[in-house]
Amino acid sequence: MASASTARRPPRVLPYASTAELYDRIYSWKDYAAESRQIVGWIRRFGRPQSHSLLDVACGTGAHLAYLSRTYEATGVDVNEGMLSVARRKLPRVRFVRGRMESFRLGRRFDAITCLFSAIGYLPNESDLRRTLRNFARHLEPGGVAIVEPWLTRAKYRTGAVHAQILGTPDRPIVRMNISGRRGNRSIMDQHHLIATPHGIRHWVERHDLGLFEVATFLAAFRAAGFRVQFRRRGFMKGRGVYVAVLRSPPSAARPRPRRVTRGSSSSRRAPGS
Ligand SMILES: C[S@@+](CC[C@H](N)C(=O)[O-])C[C@H]1O[C@@H](n2cnc3c(N)ncnc32)[C@H](O)[C@@H]1O
Repeated sequence: MASASTARRPPRVLPYASTAELYDRIYSWKDYAAESRQIVGWIRRFGRPQSHSLLDVACGTGAHLAYLSRTYEATGVDVNEGMLSVARRKLPRVRFVRGRMESFRLGRRFDAITCLFSAIGYLPNESDLRRTLRNFARHLEPGGVAIVEPWLTRAKYRTGAVHAQILGTPDRPIVRMNISGRRGNRSIMDQHHLIATPHGIRHWVERHDLGLFEVATFLAAFRAAGFRVQFRRRGFMKGRGVYVAVLRSPPSAARPRPRRVTRGSSSSRRAPGS
């Protein structure tokens, strides 16, 4: 028997590197259809009349786009090629582009942008959060809606909690386990996966490192990027909430300000700042 020091450690891989093909099975409990109906409702209520285009950022395997693409001309962006290839296989008529949420450039604007299931939490810091929301603004029409589902705040995150799930089918079980850790304002979850087939059991670990951004941080970042924003406590996942933000219209193109004429003088002064 291997001693503790010689026992082989499970390989540690990047988030979603080994789970892209399993992702839809792992999250089969999630009601993507109901979430998508709620999203369509918010876009109709707060967005541009007759909104017809939607961009899902960090779209993963396209689980929301499977529904949203029935209503909108849809595009998905994600950083992970494995997730995108699952999405492309499922939704051949939807355009998928590889890119980072902070920096992708599609050269066009949409009526709505979504960024769901806490994907935004993977950003490393507040400055990237601000960059990302500015990038969303760059890709939205004025009056367009951004719907962003955050990760937990510091107060909602519980360190040391044990999470375990048995998924899959009895003859192809998948076991996932993690203990929620924390480093400063980051939540660190080493997600262990065990998957059994008649040929053996595979074990690997994915580290999920997500920022515990505060509501005030998000609100300030949205406003700085040009949005009117509300935080709705009741979102999709317990304790996370959701931001629904509308991009303000840019101030109308520099209309010349009226000239102020000083009485008794033939000279005129321009208004300050003009
Ligand atoms: C929890 S999954 C959510 C996927 C999908 N939105 C859903 O609801 O099923 C997080 C996704 O964020 C993506 N992601 C993480 N960091 C990213 C980044 N900087 N830019 C774009 N995508 C990113 C991952 O590749 C992964 O597909």
